[in-house]
Amino acid sequence: MIYGRGKTKILDENAFGIWSKIMDHIFKITFNAVGEEEHRRKISEGFRNVNAGIYIHFPFCRSFCLYCPYYREIWDENKFSKYRNALIKEIQIIGNILENSDVKIVDIHIGGGTPSIPNPSFWKDIMEELKENFNINVNLGIEANPEDLADEEKTVKLLDSEVTELSIGVQSFHRTHLKALGRRHSVEDVEKTLKNIEEVGFKHVNMDLMYMIPNIPYEKQLDNWREDLERAVQYKVQQITIYPTLITRHCPARNLIKNGRVTQPVQFLDQFLIEARRILEREGYKRIRIYSWSRGGEYATVNLEMIGPLLALGPGAMGFTGSYEWVNVHSIDEYVKRLSKGELPVSVSRKVNLGERIARYVIDRLFTSGEVKIEEFQRIFGGGLELIPKGLNRSLSLMKLLKFIKFENNCLKLTERGFKKANRLIWAFVLKVPCRLVEKLTIEHYPEKVEI
Ligand SMILES: C[S@@+](CC[C@H](N)C(=O)[O-])C[C@H]1O[C@@H](n2cnc3c(N)ncnc32)[C@H](O)[C@@H]1O
Ligand code: SF4
Repeated sequence: MIYGRGKTKILDENAFGIWSKIMDHIFKITFNAVGEEEHRRKISEGFRNVNAGIYIHFPFCRSFCLYCPYYREIWDENKFSKYRNALIKEIQIIGNILENSDVKIVDIHIGGGTPSIPNPSFWKDIMEELKENFNINVNLGIEANPEDLADEEKTVKLLDSEVTELSIGVQSFHRTHLKALGRRHSVEDVEKTLKNIEEVGFKHVNMDLMYMIPNIPYEKQLDNWREDLERAVQYKVQQITIYPTLITRHCPARNLIKNGRVTQPVQFLDQFLIEARRILEREGYKRIRIYSWSRGGEYATVNLEMIGPLLALGPGAMGFTGSYEWVNVHSIDEYVKRLSKGELPVSVSRKVNLGERIARYVIDRLFTSGEVKIEEFQRIFGGGLELIPKGLNRSLSLMKLLKFIKFENNCLKLTERGFKKANRLIWAFVLKVPCRLVEKLTIEHYPEKVEI
């Protein structure tokens, strides 16, 4: 679909024109099957004497939202109890491998799926297991859905379970938007949840909002978007993150999409971003990422996903040492089976060379955070920007010519013009790389090779 001009206007992986093509060009990635022994060795070698993050994937949802691009399965108590035992086993195996490696865990985030479904005591148990196996002095951050935290008692219990950071999937304060996205929760759930959270007092709360809602006419949607933002800032959340509704081939609404029954106002993408920026910055929020604003602090695992070192736990989780990347199997049954045999549940892995590490760093820093500090770049990579791989370098030169980026105060920075372009480049990347990987690994659990 050509950005803004195609017959069907949807934000799919080719919607961003030149930016989708640049992503195709820069990221040609191949994962391969890996043996148990080699995988253990790579983990052991990759996490020595480092500060690392932990990401745990909780792959259950009560129902599936229409445009969900993530790996998840339907909530089932019986499956959950097997997942619980397997997760504990995985923590113990990795803890064992890294026993004498001097790894300090500086960040733990749990994503999904819907990590707010189980009784919060589950996360307390997991935290205890983590502490027994790793050197940890941080609390937990989890993604939560409003239908779960509308229950005040559950919200209080979460804090007792060492969950101090929350990211709430509010998405919208409009019933019509929630319905169009196929969400389970109501606007009342959102209001109750936000009130509960305020009363309980978490250290850091992020609220996710979504725009580009399919099948809602543009003008109505833009008015509703402004209202959503005005309502969001009335709550005392530290951070607000905004997502355009991305459309992947494998999402639950795929048949509607094939029949041409899904449209989005893609040519107005910038308008939504501009409005968010205007309202959030007027209210004292500062832009910390191209799609996220904060009044202090940050809820994010993206830094470590892109740059590492990040330990991955749970089915579907992705880990990265900085030079070795692996993906756990995208199936709860397979995950349980592997761990019950005492094996790690890896599906595929690959080496990441210095050039790609640099490209990931530059894309993350420049296009999501807005700048690359040359001194920091030199400290990490031991050289100047000439180390940037050719493909990306050519794209950066063109962007400089077009005044999307500039040099200033020993930094490579996004300009005002570049801000809107970066919003396309980042979502083109998300659709082309992580979303494609989820799609392929959900279809085939242990491929010999995956090319994306
Ligand atoms: C990893 S999800 C998990 C959180 C939780 N399961 C939920 O959906 O509320 C994090 C955020 O991704 C966003 N999201 C969901 N579907 C999306 C889509 N199709 N495109 C872009 N973002 C999406 C939502 O704002 C959601 O809160
Ligand atoms: S968008 Fe979130 S809540 Fe909805 S199905 Fe996907 S992971 Fe579950």
